Amino acid sequence: MPLLSKVILVSQDPRLSDEVHDALSNGNGATVAVCRDLKELKGRLQADQSMVVLVDDGARDWVALGELEPVVNQYAHSRFVLLTGQRSPQILLRSMQIGIRHVQLKSEIAADLNVAVGALVNTLNHRQAARGSMITILSAGGGCGATTLATNMGLELHARQKESVLLVDGDNHYGAIGIYLNIDGRYGLNYLLGAPEKIDSVLVQSTASHYRDGFDVLLNPIVEKPIYGAEPSAKRFGELLEVCLQSYGTTILDLPRPSPEMLHAAARVSTLLLIVMQPAVKDIRMARILMNALEMTGVGPSQILVVVNRYQNHHNPIQLPQIQKVFTTAELFCVGNDYVNANRAATEGLPLSQCARKSRVAHDVGELASHCMQRLQTSRNEVQTVS
Ligand SMILES: Nc1ncnc2c1ncn2[C@@H]1O[C@H](COP(=O)(O)OP(=O)(O)OP(=O)(O)O)[C@@H](O)[C@H]1O
Ligand SMILES: [Mg+2]
Repeated sequence: MPLLSKVILVSQDPRLSDEVHDALSNGNGATVAVCRDLKELKGRLQADQSMVVLVDDGARDWVALGELEPVVNQYAHSRFVLLTGQRSPQILLRSMQIGIRHVQLKSEIAADLNVAVGALVNTLNHRQAARGSMITILSAGGGCGATTLATNMGLELHARQKESVLLVDGDNHYGAIGIYLNIDGRYGLNYLLGAPEKIDSVLVQSTASHYRDGFDVLLNPIVEKPIYGAEPSAKRFGELLEVCLQSYGTTILDLPRPSPEMLHAAARVSTLLLIVMQPAVKDIRMARILMNALEMTGVGPSQILVVVNRYQNHHNPIQLPQIQKVFTTAELFCVGNDYVNANRAATEGLPLSQCARKSRVAHDVGELASHCMQRLQTSRNEVQTVS
C-alpha cells in the first residue's frame, strides 16, 4: 500500500506539501492529501478515521493554542505528527501531553519522514487487524427466552470483562430489548441498514443507545418502520456486523427468525453461536435444523453452544440425557426455569442482576456468561497460535 494513501497533511504552505510529497511518494505517482485547517481535517477523518495526520505548526501555533488536542482525542484511531521548525523541550512536552506520536523537524523531512510515517502506518494496520468477537443468539422456538438470555448475558459479560460490549437487537418483528432494558430509543438497527451513507464506527456508536459506560444497545424499535417504509435490507447486514466488530470488544447479536442472508452473514463473523431452546420436542427439532444450516455455512460444532432454557430438574417430560443424544457434537448448557424472576425483570425493565440478583435464573445466566467468555478466550488463543 502506498504510504501516501494513509497520510493527510494539514498546512497552508505549498512548499511544505511538495517536500512531504517527495519524501513519501517513493516515485509511485500518488499525491499527498492536504487540508488547509483543522475543520477541513475533521471532514476528511469522517471518511477514514485511521490515518497518519501531519500537522504543520507554521501557519499557527497549534500546540501552544491547544486547538489540536480535542481533534487528537476525538480521532483516537489516527496517529498525529507535528511538523515543526524547532524541536524545543516545551514543544516536545506539550506534544506528548496532547498525544502526538512524533515531532518532526521540517529541515529533516527528506531524511527522516519516510521511516517515521512508515512505522505509524504499520501501527494503523495492526489496529485494523484487531477485531472484537461476536456471539450470535439464535432461537429454536418463539418465546424460548432468547432475548432474556442475550440481554442479561450481555450485561454479565460486560460486568466481568474490561472490554466494551454492544448488544444488537436483530429481531425485525418483536424487537424487545428496548422494553427489557427500559430504553426508549427511536433509532437502531433498521436505521443503519437503510441509511444512505457509509456505515462506520461513528454512525454505529451515535445510533446505539448508551445504556451504561462501555455497554451500548442497538435497538430495533417498531417505530422505525414508517421511516423507511419497508422490511429492513439484509444487503448491508454483513457490512454492519463488520463495523460492530471493529468498534466493540464483544458484540452480542439477538437474531431470532433470521432470513438466510442474515444467518449467513452472522455465521461468517461469529466466534460463538448459541441456539436457545426449551426442553420440548418442537424446539429440539428446530434446533437440529438450525445446527444443520449452520454447519452448511461452514460453522464447526465447536462454535455452537446449545442452551436449554427453562430446564427443570424433575418435571421435564424430556430429560437432559435424551437431549444430549440428539446433539452429540455440540456442547449443551442448561438455564433453570424461574418464570417469576425472569418475568419480573422484563416487566420492570431491569437487568436480572439488579432486580433478582439471588435468583436461580440470574445465577445461571452469570454462569453462561463466564462459560462464553472462556470459549471466546480459547478461540482468541487459537487464532494467536496460528498467526
Ligand atoms: N429461564 C427462564 N425461566 C423462566 N422464564 C423465562 C426464562 N427465560 C425467559 N423467560 C420468560 O419467557 C418469556 C419469553 O422470553 P423472551 O422474550 O426472552 O423470549 P424470546 O425467545 O426472545 O421470544 P420471542 O420469540 O418473542 O423473541 C418472558 O416472559 C421471559 O420472562
Ligand atoms: Mg426475542
